[in-house]
Amino acid sequence: MAEIARVDENGNVEDSRQVTDGNVAWDEAEELGVAFGCQDGRCGSCRVEIVEGMENLSGRTINELDMGLDESENFRLMCQCKINKGLIKIRI
Ligand code: FES
Repeated sequence: MAEIARVDENGNVEDSRQVTDGNVAWDEAEELGVAFGCQDGRCGSCRVEIVEGMENLSGRTINELDMGLDESENFRLMCQCKINKGLIKIRI
């Protein structure tokens, strides 16, 4: 079981949800406060900072790269990534 946790500006966990390994976490992220719009990697509303666990996410999609969210960025679109395993910490 993987886990997605929302952290505050100091990195303290505010809330978290369990996610089945290898799945998207749309419902769980929404419960943590992530706003979804297009759900297709085009609007940017689900953009979050990955504070910890980037290595636990699926690779960046073309739509993320088109938005400039390449390896130099700590940001991902939650509608575009799956959580493969372990813990990821996000800041909204
Ligand atoms: S919901 Fe639009 S980019 Fe993710």
